[in-house]
Amino acid sequence: MRILLFAGKGGVGKTSMAAATGVNIARRGKKTLVMSLDPAHSLADIFDSDRGLMDKNRGQPILVADNLWIQELDVQEEIKQNWGEVYRYLAILLNVSGFDKILAEELAILPGMDEVSSLLYINKYIREQAYQVIILDCAPTGESLRFISIPTALEWYIKKIFHLERQIFKAVRPVARHLTSLPLPEDEYFAALQRLFDRLEGVDRVLSDPRVTTVRLVTNPEKVVLKETQRAFMYFCLYQMVIDAVIINRIFPPAVADQFFQHWKQSQEEYLELAHNRFAPVPIFPVEFFQREVVGLELLTSLSQAIYGATHPEDILYQESPYRFDKSNGIYTLSIRLPFIGAADVALGKSGEELIVRVGGFKRHVLLPRNMAGLEPQGAKFDGDYLNVRFGGVDEHTD
Ligand SMILES: Nc1ncnc2c1ncn2[C@@H]1O[C@H](COP(=O)(O)OP(=O)(O)OP(=O)(O)O)[C@@H](O)[C@H]1O
Ligand SMILES: [Mg+2]
Repeated sequence: MRILLFAGKGGVGKTSMAAATGVNIARRGKKTLVMSLDPAHSLADIFDSDRGLMDKNRGQPILVADNLWIQELDVQEEIKQNWGEVYRYLAILLNVSGFDKILAEELAILPGMDEVSSLLYINKYIREQAYQVIILDCAPTGESLRFISIPTALEWYIKKIFHLERQIFKAVRPVARHLTSLPLPEDEYFAALQRLFDRLEGVDRVLSDPRVTTVRLVTNPEKVVLKETQRAFMYFCLYQMVIDAVIINRIFPPAVADQFFQHWKQSQEEYLELAHNRFAPVPIFPVEFFQREVVGLELLTSLSQAIYGATHPEDILYQESPYRFDKSNGIYTLSIRLPFIGAADVALGKSGEELIVRVGGFKRHVLLPRNMAGLEPQGAKFDGDYLNVRFGGVDEHTD
């Protein structure tokens, strides 16, 4: 099975690229699903489906061509199906805490519920081997980073908080009932959460397994878009995901001779070259601006040709993991590819067997291999694109 995750800045062409990739793979006989992770869905529009403006097939997959399905999640349906007990408790709690009923129901939609709902589907499809290829059409960069950080955050919550919380409530419930009028979560609430966690079990491993999941970054040859792409590139590396292609979309073709576009064309050339330098050795796929909006199967097929030519998009196009664990001369090193930033942008910490790497607003808990887990980080230095973190005994000197 393959999972391809399409990410990039708003409006660069993610949904079009994801859809065209799906069309390409399905035409060669592989059972393919394109799933929209963006609550502002436009996937069905790009396939020019004749369904009503608001008809999302209740969030279930829709067949759009031979071997090709699309799916746009509907959070209200997901709440009905998956979140009953959890949602009910939160809505009651908020209502009792003074919010009116409607507002309480609104607020009880937790941030992350959409993402977790998509993860539930992804895991279900993996377990059932329902599709050979799943293509994830992400919301703009920040959201997609949140999406991939959710499995680790959940695992952390389950390991560190959940069981403890459940035990505490079990113990205090009889006493606390006399002390507060706030509804306490019943054990059924925890049992429902536990069932959700069980259904998510394993999805994090699949999403971080570079033999299954790779990221395709979509960008445009423009200064501001490329800056965001560089940040996204670095953050996906931090989350230990392999980016196996960068698609540079909306390049003006040579035939555009209009004086008005001359400056655009010149600056696009500069930024194309810059992109090649910045993202090498990850393969780059340039895509020209089409003469019209890319909508419907026929144009999507042309778009997939324009992106990939003879390349099979479901192949792994680049393999090198951004993380390397080494040992030489008795010194253990963890190297993380974190391009485009410097030492001042990174903060490191250690908690138990985990190294915590924080960059900007994101942090990653890196579970260390057993032989390194007991060692303390002794210093970190950038060497080119790589941050090398040295580990040693607790008494060694720090850089
Ligand atoms: N190479 C291209 N030539 C012409 N039109 C294009 C090209 N790529 C994308 N488009 C058009 O640009 C519009 C936006 O593309 P798309 O919806 O794929 O972007 P997106 O990155 O998914 O946006 P969002 O961030 O809103 O989800 C669409 O109307 C699409 O048809
Ligand atoms: Mg989109």
